[in-house]
Formats: sequence, structure tokens, C-alpha cells
Amino acid sequence: MSAAVITGTGLFTPPHSISNEELVDAFNRWVDAYNEQHADAITRGEVTAKEHSSAAFIEKASGIKSRFVMDREGILDIERMAPRLPKRGNDELAILAEMGVAAAKDALDRAGRSASDVDAVIVAASNMQRAYPAVAIEVQNALGIDGFGFDMNVACSSATFGLQTAAAMVEAGRARSVLTVNPEICSAHLDFRDRDSHFIFGDVATAALVERADTVREGRSWSIEGLKLSTRFSNNIRNNYGFLNRCEAGIDGNEGPAAITDVDTDLLFKQEGRRVFKDVVPMVAALIRSHLDEVGVRAEDVKRMWLHQANLAMNRLIGTKVLGREPTPEESPTILDRYANTSSAGSVICFHLHADDLAVGDLGVLCSFGAGYSAGSVILRRAS
Ligand code: COA
Repeated sequence: MSAAVITGTGLFTPPHSISNEELVDAFNRWVDAYNEQHADAITRGEVTAKEHSSAAFIEKASGIKSRFVMDREGILDIERMAPRLPKRGNDELAILAEMGVAAAKDALDRAGRSASDVDAVIVAASNMQRAYPAVAIEVQNALGIDGFGFDMNVACSSATFGLQTAAAMVEAGRARSVLTVNPEICSAHLDFRDRDSHFIFGDVATAALVERADTVREGRSWSIEGLKLSTRFSNNIRNNYGFLNRCEAGIDGNEGPAAITDVDTDLLFKQEGRRVFKDVVPMVAALIRSHLDEVGVRAEDVKRMWLHQANLAMNRLIGTKVLGREPTPEESPTILDRYANTSSAGSVICFHLHADDLAVGDLGVLCSFGAGYSAGSVILRRAS
């Protein structure tokens, strides 16, 4: 049995971004058009008038200032308010695989490895663009990896659950190294007409290479000192999109499969934000604290926390509960302001951009949390 280490991470950032101001401007123009269109019904009290969104609210409530997206025009077009991602042919690389391949190549470059060094690919993300073949097998094929691949979905915790699976395979000698890949097109599951959540998400892809510690060559590496996962069922973050939707449409009686449209909001992201905040903060803080105890690490020895990026206040509170004092921005870095919530990829982006300055021997915790509820803690020590 060999210990597992992370030797490289990768990041693909989409070419387009949308600031809060731009997003709110489009949302408010849509609200005005909606209210005008329903003016009579609103006057009669049959329809509730929509309210404007505000960039100041978004930044204050979440810490988000901007987000990267795969398509900007479709989201800001008030006739559409959804990204426009043209369907590709079956012989073209799927968009999710394309983003994953870009992040994976970055991770391999940083690890100084090539496809021939990798035995397995795990694509772990909140939303897969099809049922099968697995996106991971397409990524494996595009990279020219001789081995196997499979997909995993644990919503915002997909990356840490993927790392757990990768580390277990490497430690057990089932693979020399495993690529975990997290392509997230969160803008496609977001209801851009919902004032409470239209600002939350962005698109991105991340990757990490997990290898046997005893085969590591030169360069940076992070030993995985421990991994701990936790789930607890909750409907407070939910997305009902699935392969049965077409069959369910007729059951309600009056409409058939054609009722499934891009504005069927039950098939998009939904959350009770306040309740999520209240439930998840103590769950995550308890997970990290008990994990540190189990591994024998004192909270004061944690140099950095690479937390899931959903809400700034949430991360401040989790950090405070773990450290016993408010973490400094260096101890708990934020990428949420530029990237927004990128689901499973958030903590990996944070690690990718904010780990190189730590010294050999330094300890940090990478932690994800989200729908399920689910949470994952990865204790990392800089090994070289
Ligand atoms: N613009 C302006 N005002 C808005 C608004 C918007 N876009 N959205 C909501 N508001 C208003 C509400 O109407 C409400 O007004 P009221 O007090 O008059 O009723 C007020 O702002 C507070 O709304 P609320 O939804 O309770 O805000 P919040 O402070 O809870 O912040 C979240 C919302 C979503 C940012 C926050 O709850 C959160 O981040 N929760 C955790 C989410 C999370 O981590 N999810 C995981 C997903 S993976």
C-alpha cells in the first residue's frame, strides 16, 4: 500500500465573464417587460409584480462580483435568459469533455506527467450532459489514456468525493495515478429569471492528478493526510432534472412530453438559501474539526483552508468555528468574487490559485459542501 499525493491541479476558465451590474441590468429589463406584459393582471391582483434585482444586494449577500460563463449573449438576451450552447454531433468532442480536457492537460503539465502515466479518469461534477457513454471515457479517449474512466455526481461535493475515490484506488494499488476532472456548466442549470438565485453560479473546469507517493519525481506534491466524507438527506438544494421527466409530464393530466421546455423551472436549480446557510455551516465545521482530531492535527497548525466557494459569510463562519477565531484572507482565500459559485470546482480553483506559497511541511484543508447535503474534507500536507 502506497500513500497518495496530488502532484498537479489544472484550471480551465471560460472566455466570457458577466459582472453583477451587467446581469442585473438584463434581469431588470426582463422584469420591466414582464410587468408591462402582465400589467392588467397585476392591477387586478391576479399576478404578482416582479421586483428588480440589485448588484449591491448580490455583493453584500454573497461576496460575488462577477462570474465566468461559456456563453454570455444567451444569458443576457432577455428573450432567452439561458446560455446558447449549440448541440454538437456525436463525432465531435462534447462541451463538458472539452472543458475537462483543457483542465486535465493543465494538471498533467504541472505534474510533469503525460497520458501514458495515467490509469484512470474520474469526471466528478454536478451535472452530466448525457446519461452515457460516460463523459470520463470521452475525456480518457481525447487524452489518449489507456485505462478506464467513470462519472460521479455528488453535486457541489463531487470533487472531494472524486479525490476520495482516486486516492483509495491509488493507495490500494489499483491504479498508478488517477485524474479527477470537474467540468461545471452551472449557468445551464440556473434560472436567470429567479431573483433569489440568478446571480449565484459561474462556469469553469478543474482537474487534479492523484499519484502514488513512492513514484513522485521532482516538483511540487501534496500528500493526502486524510479524507473524510459526510452526507445527510435534504431537499433544501434540489434539481429535478432527469431521464424520467419526459415520462412524468403526462402524469399530471393535461400535458404530454412537449410540456418539457427550457423554462420548466422545476428542472433547474432551486434552494432555500437561508436554511442551507443555517444547516450546512455547523455540519461542515463539525466535519473539519472531527477530521483534524482523527488525523491528529491541531486547528492552530492549519495554515490554509481551501473552502467551497458559495458564500463569503458562510466561509467566514466555518473558518471561525474551525480555527476558534476569524481566519485572515490569506488563511481562507476567496475566489468567489471573480468566479461565483462553480459548484464542485470552487475549492479546487481555490487550491490551484492559492497553495504555491506554502512551505514544505505546511498543512491545509480542502473542503467542499452542498446539495445532498454533502460535505468532504481533504487534509493536505505539502510534501515537496
Ligand atoms: N436583489 C435584491 N434583493 C434581493 C435579491 C436580489 N437579487 N434576492 C433577494 N432579495 C431580497 C429578498 O427579497 C429579501 O427581502 P426581504 O428581507 O424584504 O424579504 C432580502 O433580500 C433577503 O433575501 P434572502 O434570500 O433571505 O437573502 P440572504 O441574505 O439569505 O442571501 C443567499 C441569499 C442565497 C446569498 C444566501 O442565503 C446563501 O448564500 N445561502 C447559502 C447558499 C449556498 O451555499 N448554497 C449552496 C449552493 S451549492
